[in-house]
Amino acid sequence: MSKSYNIAVLPGDGTGPEVVAEGVKVLKAVAAAENLSLDFTEYDFGGERYLRTGEVIPETAVSDLQKHDGIFLGAIGHPDVKPGILEKGILLKLRFELDQYINLRPIKLLPNVETPLKDKGPEEIDYVIVRENTGGIYTGTGGISQKGTEHEVAMQTMVYSRHQVERCLRFAFEYTRKRNKRKTLGLVGKTNVLTYVFDLWERVFHELGEAEYPDIKREYYHVDAACMWMVKSPEWFDVLVTTNMFGDIITDLGAITQGGMGIASGGNINPEGVSMFEPIGGSAPKYTGQGIINPLAAIGAAGMLLENLGEDAAAKRVENAVAKALQNDIQSLAAGKMGMSTSQVGDKIAEYAAS
Ligand code: IPM
Ligand code: MN
Repeated sequence: MSKSYNIAVLPGDGTGPEVVAEGVKVLKAVAAAENLSLDFTEYDFGGERYLRTGEVIPETAVSDLQKHDGIFLGAIGHPDVKPGILEKGILLKLRFELDQYINLRPIKLLPNVETPLKDKGPEEIDYVIVRENTGGIYTGTGGISQKGTEHEVAMQTMVYSRHQVERCLRFAFEYTRKRNKRKTLGLVGKTNVLTYVFDLWERVFHELGEAEYPDIKREYYHVDAACMWMVKSPEWFDVLVTTNMFGDIITDLGAITQGGMGIASGGNINPEGVSMFEPIGGSAPKYTGQGIINPLAAIGAAGMLLENLGEDAAAKRVENAVAKALQNDIQSLAAGKMGMSTSQVGDKIAEYAAS
């Protein structure tokens, strides 16, 4: 009997629906080839729905999504909605309430993809960033008092519990072991200034590493220096682990070194629950509806979703098909410069993935 999975699809805003459609196309092709049964349920969360109804997300959203085996998300963010409303009300709310405490962002340069890093190729750019995804400044308390006066005060605090730190580091150690490349985990922090939060991170890092992961080499980088080395010597890295805010920043830097937002995918992972996969670029409103946006990041996210379901052969098909399309068909990763339309890219990859 074929294995079956329920996938929630959240196309979202801007070009989200266009790229998600290609991801679903590829998932369907792979499912047929691997004899999997995938059942898709679409949810219309995003800016259009909010502008129409005044509701960001229905109350039942989280419990509905929890019933699925995986979530495939396009993009959240609408030019007519004030920044923060949709991002906090949908994307961050889902990450937090579904307890997706890991944001997994592979930084991998594929053959035939241009990188802005001089003299670096696929051999040198191949590592993974594990970003803590449900804590830190993103969820610490804060507020503004006496707003609008010259005495106003704004604060937003970075808060981490040992529990949050430990589960994130444990995931990172396990991931490094499973990846089995250089068996090296680098902690990215700021122990020279943020002496409370990173004291905790650093202590737990070494305690856990020493007690349970003696096979994994431990390294430490200050976040500013890490940015420098990500450009100068990316080949040093195997797996990096960091806080939510630092991870947000350094993964965009990493993404541009692997060819940019057209190809960067990520997963919001709850190892004990339901996980959500997305292209990490935004909704790119200016390209909406033209059929010129690059769907590779979304297709890559679909591949990560399959891997998360334990369907390694299916995930491998997606990976190989993307590599083949980059080899044979796609001229450039930039929107409008691919030499083919969004749906033609999806067609090609679906064809390759099925064969
Ligand atoms: C990301 C995004 C989000 C984040 C925004 C849109 C809330 O930048 O996924 O990296 O800051 O996490
Ligand atoms: Mn970001």
